[in-house]
Amino acid sequence: MLVKTLLTVTPLLALVVGAPAPAPQDTAVFSPPTVFSPPTFPENNNFTKTTEGAKPNQGAHVLLSKSDSFAKTSGLSGPGSVVTGKGLAWYSSSLTVGNGGYQDPNYYYCFRGIKENFPPFANWMNFHDMFERNQFTTMVKYDSGPEQGAIYNAILQAAQESKVDARLILAVIMQESSGNVRVGCTNNGVQNCGLMQAYAGSVSYDPNNMAASILHMVRDGTEGTTQGPGYVQWISQNSQTAYAGDTEGNPYQAARGYNSGQINFSDLSDPKGATGSYVSDLANRLQGWNGASCGNHYWESCNFPEKRFC
Ligand SMILES: *[C@@H]1O[C@H](CO)[C@@H](O)[C@H](O)[C@H]1NC(C)=O
Ligand SMILES: *[C@@H]1O[C@H](CO)[C@@H](O)[C@H](O)[C@H]1NC(C)=O
Repeated sequence: MLVKTLLTVTPLLALVVGAPAPAPQDTAVFSPPTVFSPPTFPENNNFTKTTEGAKPNQGAHVLLSKSDSFAKTSGLSGPGSVVTGKGLAWYSSSLTVGNGGYQDPNYYYCFRGIKENFPPFANWMNFHDMFERNQFTTMVKYDSGPEQGAIYNAILQAAQESKVDARLILAVIMQESSGNVRVGCTNNGVQNCGLMQAYAGSVSYDPNNMAASILHMVRDGTEGTTQGPGYVQWISQNSQTAYAGDTEGNPYQAARGYNSGQINFSDLSDPKGATGSYVSDLANRLQGWNGASCGNHYWESCNFPEKRFC
């Protein structure tokens, strides 16, 4: 009750609840891109490991029947699959295109409804700054410097070979595992393992095979496993191949499919048995959100079903 009262009087509420996709030139919220310099991955980063920002149980939840999933995906599922169709409009190979992200990385817009309510491609922040933001606020808590470097390399390799934008892959990694290479598997009907809590057949980290296993985990979520879809397959759905409706290459619709195995096209924040905030969380991460939710009036004001865990 107290929380509700506070939320009612905060002037930011009007800006946050139901706010339209912010324009890239919204200087009150976005900071300019920084000058490009490569990220560093020190051998010994001395940070305390915490679970802050972790969001368990994000992975694919519905076991898709073979005839409805793998067999009907447009092209291969697994390493080597590439986005086809309209989804290519959501891909850039540039590490620096995009804005500098929310000035306040706790900032969060409540996105829900149809795909047009979610931010356009031009509003995404640039990969370089986005990686650094996630590296310094979250990854350093879980991963050694070389592990962070291997995540960076794996994202760029998977993005280039699959034509899934590196920023989307990074956002999914942060959402699914907080970038923690040692994340456990979850099972909500499908065994989800690895950095992207990918579909059945996905693998976990192998510290004896650091770079290769990190690449494997990133490919599982991006390119799919031999048993089922990753982002390539969800983005590439069309009316002929659709097993949960035509995603039209739209990454937000694809994200709902990845998380829930089904899509309510009139409300991408309809959890469909999985995580209601999932697509909105990705959209905010793509614009510079650091994943802070509970105890934060920006995210909590959206009243997603998961708020009950705060
Ligand atoms: C790590 O940080 C702690 C607290 O800041 C400090 O006491 C300790 O000496 C540091 N260890 C190393 C190896 O730098
Ligand atoms: C889709 O979401 C809308 C808005 O939340 C809701 O009214 C509708 O019942 C949902 N449709 C299905 C099939 O669940």
